[in-house]
Order: sequence, then structure tokens, then C-alpha cells
Amino acid sequence: MSRFTGKVALVTGAAGVLGTAISRRLATEGASVVLADIDLEAAQRAAAEIGGDAAAVRMDVTSGDDVRESLTGSAQRFGGLDVLVNNAGTEGGFATTTEYDDDVFDRTFAINVRGSYLGMKHAVPLLRARGGGAIVNVASVAGLQGTPGMIAYGMSKHALLGMTKTVAAEESAAGIRVTAVCPAPIEGRMMRSIESGLGGDDGTTVRSQYRDAIPLGRYASPEEVAALICFLASDEAAFITGSWHRIDGGLGINSA
Ligand SMILES: NC(=O)c1ccc[n+]([C@@H]2O[C@H](COP(=O)([O-])OP(=O)(O)OC[C@H]3O[C@@H](n4cnc5c(N)ncnc54)[C@H](O)[C@@H]3O)[C@@H](O)[C@H]2O)c1
Repeated sequence: MSRFTGKVALVTGAAGVLGTAISRRLATEGASVVLADIDLEAAQRAAAEIGGDAAAVRMDVTSGDDVRESLTGSAQRFGGLDVLVNNAGTEGGFATTTEYDDDVFDRTFAINVRGSYLGMKHAVPLLRARGGGAIVNVASVAGLQGTPGMIAYGMSKHALLGMTKTVAAEESAAGIRVTAVCPAPIEGRMMRSIESGLGGDDGTTVRSQYRDAIPLGRYASPEEVAALICFLASDEAAFITGSWHRIDGGLGINSA
């Protein structure tokens, strides 16, 4: 497939396991991709491995200046912007609400909520200049249900669904579609951190609990989640906006 030939995409948190898979898939399908991450060296390594004209940029998503400059700089370098994937995120801390650290709460919201807000704020004018485009926000099943021990993460992912609907409503007349994805656990660093953070052991207890709760009996691969995100970012999803999409191995079968 070459759904992104001639298109320019920026992925935040692109040095992480999911961000790199999204960037690779976009590039494989023809996009010029900018891998943005607070960890520039890791983003550069990922961009080099993807090859082609993939580029890396240091971007702290909590900084309005960083986000604006990275997006406008990328648009100048490649001639415009067509796709933004707000993927950067942190799991935050692990404690019940009464014990949760306020600074960790603020930091989690700064990355997960403010970061995606800033991405949309500064990408929309660039997408308008192209006559439209697509934004995909990476939420979580934690944005659809309670997640004991992870109040800031769960709240932040609920907030992402709200901002997805708001910007989709504001920008549909400009041809800009905004969607969100809600993945269940994905193999990688973040789940190792959550398993040990919530489990208080080497992580095997929480890992088996999660696996048992997922009808398909396993975590997602980053590539499976990247495939959904790239579909939503592509013209194949031209009639989809303002919506969130589970990719959860059946975890939500009995949810509304
Ligand atoms: N891993 C999962 O099981 C899972 C499930 C559902 C949703 N998600 C969401 O998917 C997204 C990607 O997760 P992942 O598993 O790839 O995590 P990851 O930890 O592998 O990657 C996250 C990336 O974000 C970057 N980052 C952190 N703070 C940043 C900042 N201030 N500015 C820019 N970049 C920053 C990190 O450097 C890292 O490269 C996150 O939003 C996460 O909440 C993950």
C-alpha cells in the first residue's frame, strides 16, 4: 500500500515502541515522516533505522515553543503537514488516589493532555493550509474505564477523548479529521513499568491478570496498533472523525 505518497507526517513520542512502529508504517507507505521525541538520540536512531527521508527532531510536548517550532520547521522542510499523531505519553505514578503524588499528577497531565492539546493547536493551521488533514490521538482503554492505582493516567486518557471530539467539531469544515485510538496493553517498556508498578513484584502477577482479561489472550503488538492508526490517518477513513476506536483483543466486548 502507498496511502501516504506525497504526504508529510509528524509523530510525537516516536522513539518509543508504538511511535517507532507508527513512523515505520507511515514511511513504508510513502510518507515523509518526522520522528519527534524528548529523547533526540533515540529518535535519531529510529529515523536512521527507518531510512528514506525520515527525520528526527527534539520536541518536549509540554513546551508550546518546542511544539510550534518542530511542527512549523517540519512543514518548511517537507513542504507542508498532512498528518499529526499525538502519541507521546507517560504512565505516570502508581498509587491509590489518596496516596498519589501531586507533582507526578501534574507531570502526567502536562505530557498526556497539554502535550496533545499543544500538538493540535499548532498543527491545525498547517493542516488548514493544505486544505485538510488528519490528527490521531493515542488514548487507551484506560480512557474508557477505571484504572485503580493510575488516577492521572486514566484521567488523562479520558481527557484525550474529549479534546478529540472538540477539535473534530471545530475543524471538520476545514477538512481536518480528528480521531482517537484506545489500545489495550501493548508489548513494550510501558507495560513492563505498569506490571511492576501495580504488582509490586517482578510484574508476572499483573501480566497474567491482564492477559486473562483479554479474550484473545495476549497483548497487542505495536505493529497491530500502528495499522489502525495509519488507517485512521489515511484517506480510506475519509468519513471518520470525532470518534474513538478500541483495539483491545476483545477486552471491551461487554462494554457499551
Ligand atoms: N504500551 C501500552 O500498553 C499502551 C496501551 C495503550 C496506550 N498506550 C499509549 O501509547 C503511547 C505510546 O506508548 P509506548 O508504549 O510507545 O510508550 P514508550 O514509553 O515506549 O514511549 C513513549 C515515548 O514518549 C516520549 N516522551 C515522553 N515524554 C515526552 C515529552 N515530554 N515530549 C516528547 N516525547 C516524550 C518518550 O521519550 C518515549 O520515547 C502513549 O501515549 C501510551 O499512553 C500505550
